[in-house]
Amino acid sequence: MAGGADAVAAWIEELTGRLYALGAGGLEYEDGLAAQADWVDEGMPPGPPFVRAYFPGGAAWDSLQPSLADARASAGVELTVEAVREDDWAHAWKKFFHAVQPGRRVWIVPAWEAPPDPRGLVVRIDPGMAFGTGTHATTALMIALLEDSVEPGQRWLDVGTGSGILALAAWRLGAHVGAVDIDPVAVDAARRNVAAHGAPIAVWQGTVASVPGEERAFDGVAANLTADIILREWRGLADRVRSGGRLLLSGIIEERWLEVRDTLETAGLTLGALRRQGGWVAAALVLP
Ligand SMILES: C[S@@+](CC[C@H](N)C(=O)[O-])C[C@H]1O[C@@H](n2cnc3c(N)ncnc32)[C@H](O)[C@@H]1O
Repeated sequence: MAGGADAVAAWIEELTGRLYALGAGGLEYEDGLAAQADWVDEGMPPGPPFVRAYFPGGAAWDSLQPSLADARASAGVELTVEAVREDDWAHAWKKFFHAVQPGRRVWIVPAWEAPPDPRGLVVRIDPGMAFGTGTHATTALMIALLEDSVEPGQRWLDVGTGSGILALAAWRLGAHVGAVDIDPVAVDAARRNVAAHGAPIAVWQGTVASVPGEERAFDGVAANLTADIILREWRGLADRVRSGGRLLLSGIIEERWLEVRDTLETAGLTLGALRRQGGWVAAALVLP
């Protein structure tokens, strides 16, 4: 595997998209690049980039093998397969997860650590096997966009909630929030994290189509997905946002951004804000 930040991000997007499609219950990845943000422990040298996927015990393992071999061939990477206990996988996250303040206001703190600023807007997360610790660029970019977009009292929806991190961040910023994820493992993790905060956030399982309620009912929708999923589902996401409201998108690699932007601008949405980090793009689009 060769290339800089963009090539590595493209490789990670390719593999994670395929692994999700194959039914991965949880994913962990590192881009192997030197840390750029000042909250990362600079003493820690970057290791090789990797993507690690967890397939639940009930997965049809034999039928997955050919697809995994195909994913390996197309991405040109090595594949190793290992059986792990579910609680070992859950524990593996903890090495990589420390308190972070991705924007200016919200702190994301591991559930097992004391918050650095207990009077701040603190979201405590135990991701378990779900995605969403705030240390990944796509989540960090989205939290910064939420800080600039959410106004107290507004209604927001988090699509692809993972650990529930963005839903909880929006709630801390004063919004009434709903959340949805296609993955039952994520839904469990999000419900646990929501309950630990005593937050009145409903978490549904499914896609945006599974969220009850009217079209245009939300002031904003936040979706940290991938470019492919966004291009497939953007209409369903945009239909939930009121006129003048915001659709926040993250999880888009640089190479796919123009394609996503053109699709949405052609449909009449306008670009309100744009943020970039480590080969990833996140954007706020305003509904006509
Ligand atoms: C990159 S993670 C984002 C997690 C969290 N929101 C964050 O920002 O860290 C994407 C999540 O979207 C979920 N997902 C994938 N496709 C989806 C879809 N079509 N509808 C809803 N959720 C989806 C995955 O299960 C995963 O939990």
